[in-house]
Amino acid sequence: MIPPDDVSPSNRSIEGDSLAKVASEVRACTLCRLSRTRIIAVPGEGNPDADLMLIGEGPGYNEDKLGRPFVGAAGTFLNELLASAGLRRQDVFITNVVKCRPPQNRDPLPDEIEACSGYLHRQLALIKPKVVSTLGRHSMSRYFPNERISKVHGQPREVGGMTVVPLLHPAAALHQPALRATELEDFARLPAIMEAVSQPPAEPEQAQPAEDRSRKPDQLRLFE
Ligand code: URA
Ligand code: SF4
Repeated sequence: MIPPDDVSPSNRSIEGDSLAKVASEVRACTLCRLSRTRIIAVPGEGNPDADLMLIGEGPGYNEDKLGRPFVGAAGTFLNELLASAGLRRQDVFITNVVKCRPPQNRDPLPDEIEACSGYLHRQLALIKPKVVSTLGRHSMSRYFPNERISKVHGQPREVGGMTVVPLLHPAAALHQPALRATELEDFARLPAIMEAVSQPPAEPEQAQPAEDRSRKPDQLRLFE
């Protein structure tokens, strides 16, 4: 069982918004049908200053009972994946594309994902992570609607000014143990990807006009 000490309520605010406000709205939300079958909504938790934000699919049985993300078997493996990459769960922020459990753990429906997207956008705007990792294909398809996860997993891409790394869902390896090694390899790349995003732009060989200097670096060798 994961201790609750990695829950970090935050009062950081952007124009009056805060993670605590998002969380309390989520807990009372009735914007989609999942509100009728959930026990407890699961806003997400973690470090409000996280460099890495992980976005899963939706709460499962255990998450729905406890109101916390990734606390069941997939969560145990996620903790292992993070630890193996030298990352600590309390340093990242973990949430889902839908904050309420789909009945019988069915896939979230497009209209449910859409209804819930405002909360995810606010969390992203407040946390401003360096890197976003999607876990599983529902979360991935928010950023790469036409990609196949089997093809693009582990490869960082720039999307809307963010670096997004699509990853396999931790539960995938619980069903298919052969995927374990792939998940471990993909997670192992995250620290270097986060480091690359932190680097200042390389000095240009020739002086650039002033307005070009503020440009973000074209994403780095890792991204090629
Ligand atoms: N699977 C998910 O996608 N999210 C959770 O929070 C738990 C399991
Ligand atoms: Fe609201 Fe999202 Fe829960 Fe639907 S899944 S009720 S939109 S919090």
